[in-house]
Amino acid sequence: MAENLVTVIFNYVDYKNQIKSKQLPKHIAVIMDGNGRWAKQKGLLRTIGHEKGSRAVREVVEASAELGLKYLTLYAFSTENWRRPKYEVDTLMKLLVSSLRKEIHRLQDNDIKLNAIGNLELLPSKVLDELLEVIESTKNNSRMILTLALSYGSREELVHVMKEIANNVKNNIISPEKIDETIINQHLYTQNLPDVDLLIRTSGEQRISNFLLWQIAYAELYFTDTLWPDFSKEELYLALYSYQNRERRFGKTSDQLSKQ
Ligand code: FPP
Repeated sequence: MAENLVTVIFNYVDYKNQIKSKQLPKHIAVIMDGNGRWAKQKGLLRTIGHEKGSRAVREVVEASAELGLKYLTLYAFSTENWRRPKYEVDTLMKLLVSSLRKEIHRLQDNDIKLNAIGNLELLPSKVLDELLEVIESTKNNSRMILTLALSYGSREELVHVMKEIANNVKNNIISPEKIDETIINQHLYTQNLPDVDLLIRTSGEQRISNFLLWQIAYAELYFTDTLWPDFSKEELYLALYSYQNRERRFGKTSDQLSKQ
């Protein structure tokens, strides 16, 4: 009964029209989860779930650009995902290459710049070459920055940052007293991106799974039971509606905020 009511409300409320364009989050990050379960529920191979997942990627990228979002970051492959069965990893890599090839024109037409974060050296050369080619050919686009987190893990990123800073200290490029949040930000893979404002995770899991741990310090978290292949533009509007109806205090009190 409760579920039916939610479905009814969801179908009849036009969330898109309620989104305030002046209060959009600058940066949305998404943990796209549930491709495997989506496939299993339908008696299909997990890899079909990933294929359907790439359709949801297209829909969300399109909706984000239409709304005027500036930064969208998608967790497409984690450092831990390398431990999956070889067949699944190979399929995901092939899917990435074919999606990049297919989407390059759409990215150009929509003035979207592609970016990637992660330990990219671990990617097969075919994937890396294709990725670098699309990054190069979209580098002058400016409507929205679409970042794919590939072979990404936040702890690996932080280790990389610490090694770089330690080397700079060793080589007298910086003194330890000068290390602050700005310096750390400058060494993250996300150095050109603002902090995440809204983190969305699909599939009912409520955890962060080693994604952008530093960058989500003040992000609003939004969890939905929807499995990633079923995530649609409407679901994105609903997440934005929820975000815009929260109070972000950044450590201050409500009273302080209302006086600002
Ligand atoms: C999580 O579902 C999803 C992934 C590990 C991969 C995400 C990849 C895509 C959405 C497809 C292609 C991406 C791009 C950018 C074109 P899961 O397999 O962990 O699902 P489960 O938890 O139900 O097993």
